[in-house]
Amino acid sequence: MGEIVNYNLTEELAHGIYVSALVRDLSREIGLSEPAVYEFTLAGLLHDIGKLQLANYIYGNEKIVSPLVVEEMKYVRMHPMLSFEILKERGLSDLVLDAVRYHHEDYDGSGFPSNLVGEEIPLGARIIRCCDVFAALTTDRPYRKRFDIDEAMSLMIDEITHFDMKIFLAFERIVHRVGTKYQIDLPYSDDELLLGETGAAEFMASAAAAPGQKNPYLTRSETWQ
Ligand SMILES: [Fe+2]
Repeated sequence: MGEIVNYNLTEELAHGIYVSALVRDLSREIGLSEPAVYEFTLAGLLHDIGKLQLANYIYGNEKIVSPLVVEEMKYVRMHPMLSFEILKERGLSDLVLDAVRYHHEDYDGSGFPSNLVGEEIPLGARIIRCCDVFAALTTDRPYRKRFDIDEAMSLMIDEITHFDMKIFLAFERIVHRVGTKYQIDLPYSDDELLLGETGAAEFMASAAAAPGQKNPYLTRSETWQ
């Protein structure tokens, strides 16, 4: 079952640090006050903390474990709410909680968990969304190499309806300045060797396979970005 959801704490921490540094710069770029910058930066660091609980939930309950991709996606989609609940118990501010809870909402209403649209999505969540997607695209995955900055920005432009345009334009400016300097390189173990372009194509094909067919490339879910 380890291949269904492979939670890697080191990678998650590196991702959190990468996202939070971008969130800090982007929040300053759009002119937020330093207290707000601090809260959103914290949210950027902690946004995926619910994945730890999710991994325990999946591994700790045999009935929940299923090779079906659709099952995995169903549970992966719980992680923003799990992050929110963990942080709420610890008394974090509403600015942090709202940013974390809605960090997978898309501007056009196609995100999750609540299908919020436009400015219904809290500002902190719209900021994290941009930084989170860019950080994920510019990081190596087991089934593909990282995209370079131009490729990542062009992929984001292809899905521009997911982002708040004002936030995205400010993000373009900070990417021009800082690029991927906050990215933390991690050594990959032997069983996580990159599969290259062919592997990426096979991954995409197998992800679309019929329910019940196990996806050999799904060592870590793209949907967790
Ligand atoms: Fe997430």
